[in-house]
Amino acid sequence: MQSNEITKENINKLVVTFYTKVLKDEKISPFFIEKLGADMKSEIWQKHITLLTNFWFTISFGRGEYNGSPFAPHMQISGLDRESFERWLKLFFEALDKIYVEDIALKFKERASIIASNFMRNLSI
Ligand code: HEM
Repeated sequence: MQSNEITKENINKLVVTFYTKVLKDEKISPFFIEKLGADMKSEIWQKHITLLTNFWFTISFGRGEYNGSPFAPHMQISGLDRESFERWLKLFFEALDKIYVEDIALKFKERASIIASNFMRNLSI
């Protein structure tokens, strides 16, 4: 059953579902494995999952525990191209469709697409 409300618990489920897909993806898994390793159960991955859960919670509710600089780490990743961002969005959309009813999924998709466009513009790709 897809959720028709946004909670911290289901955002966490979204983030875990998304990264499970990412780590199986030939094109974009290497970027994540290089920085965070291949084991989602590791401490570094658990921290990343909590960080991203807080990030999406803060975006959704306009308040929350994320107060970082979302773009900054992406400047340190070499080889990022438009195709990688398209794949990132495709996997994120698939995860959203699994977790949320259509109108909630759509709102996240709009936010993610805008952020991805901003990142690509900042990276000049
Ligand atoms: C192909 C596209 C992308 C790749 C390969 C990628 C990869 C990564 C990696 C490896 C990190 C961890 C960096 C580190 O800890 O050193 C990271 C952090 C992060 N990413 Fe991405 N990312 C992509 C796109 C996006 C998009 C589109 C968003 C948002 C919609 C996003 C949001 C974030 C956030 C919020 C962080 C944490 C920033 C912080 O440290 O505060 N990423 N990303």
